[in-house]
Amino acid sequence: MTTMESLIGLVNRIQRACTVLGDYGGGDNAFSSLWEALPSVAVVGGQVLLSFSLYFFFLSIKKPKAHTSKENSSGKSSVLESIVGRDFLPRGSGIVTRRPLVLQLHKTEEGSQEYAEFLHLPKRRFTDFSLVRKEIQDETDRMTGKTKQISPVPIHLSIYSPSVVNLTLIDLPGLTKVAVEGQPESVVQDIETMVRSYVEKPNCIILAISPANQDIATSDAIKLSREVDPSGERTFGVLTKLDLMDKGTNALDVLEGRSYRLQHPWVGIVNRSQADINKNVDMIVARRKECEYFATSPDYGHLANKMGSEYLANLLSKYLESVIRARIPSITSLINKSIEELESEMDHLGRPIAVDAGAQLYTILELCRAFDRIFKEHLDGGRPGGDR
Ligand code: GDP
Ligand code: MG
Ligand code: NA
Repeated sequence: MTTMESLIGLVNRIQRACTVLGDYGGGDNAFSSLWEALPSVAVVGGQVLLSFSLYFFFLSIKKPKAHTSKENSSGKSSVLESIVGRDFLPRGSGIVTRRPLVLQLHKTEEGSQEYAEFLHLPKRRFTDFSLVRKEIQDETDRMTGKTKQISPVPIHLSIYSPSVVNLTLIDLPGLTKVAVEGQPESVVQDIETMVRSYVEKPNCIILAISPANQDIATSDAIKLSREVDPSGERTFGVLTKLDLMDKGTNALDVLEGRSYRLQHPWVGIVNRSQADINKNVDMIVARRKECEYFATSPDYGHLANKMGSEYLANLLSKYLESVIRARIPSITSLINKSIEELESEMDHLGRPIAVDAGAQLYTILELCRAFDRIFKEHLDGGRPGGDR
């Protein structure tokens, strides 16, 4: 493992440990500032439910079919699954993601077994990803009841696999314009407030997902990112559903940055269609088909090596690396501050009152020390004399 890989891995683990202590978002302690100093990637996208639901309501007395609204989703879950290369997120109509999902990808040694682990079920290793999907659903319901309410309390999931890149991604509820299926009107505002609380943090990297078969000017993801990141320096624009555009049209104006300019290049994606999902088309096969799509496309052929989910995953991981590298001085100073605070906290606690919290404090302390040590080794190894 390179130093940088192990640093990202450590950052992952520090974030994970910090959150066990809860309240990282709002609280004002060593852990919350540490969490906020560590960059992560929030996935933002919209779902246009209103027009189509009403349309079908007027067309038929039957309730709108589940898939009618899904067809107008931005494809957020699909992008996440492609990045992971696994099929594990709940699906359905309406607002499926009702709690933030903090998804940490940890790259493991070649040949090792792939598994998933929830923070709330630390002793259980999931190797069957359909059970991961079920547990996300169940854990969402545990917090929100079956009422379809949303909750800002995140679910933490780690995936350990040789075929992922080191990355922390946060899946957020889709931005929506109307409450659906018995949800209170306030849900629209609640979701926006929740999404905003993540993306407005300067260390948040925004993965803004918009479907190519909709006008980019109306994209909720772009609207929000434009507000919180006007210069576009921490926004990655992702355009899904390129295969669903009207024949004779293409998305080059968006992909080449003429429609909406960001500092980072736009990435086009072709996810599995609903028919592919129904046929259980494997993620690996889907990635291959996506590559073929770009390689053989008359419109996008010249961009083929900068398109697709695999490229996106690597782009994000590299960017995360560069951000962490640039922030190493401020992260280490925060870590040193945290170490001090933690040590004095440990002194106060003596033997921890709450065993779990105490154990987590030790964990964070250990991880922070490791980060500090690896960072110093990196500097020593990196320059003759290592005089810093
Ligand atoms: P989310 O609601 O934003 O999370 O969207 P999903 O990822 O659940 O996708 C909604 C629907 O759009 C599903 O039926 C997907 O199969 C379909 N979909 C998503 N991305 C694409 C794409 O790039 N091409 C095609 N053909 N279908 C897609
Ligand atoms: Mg989704
Ligand atoms: Na969405």
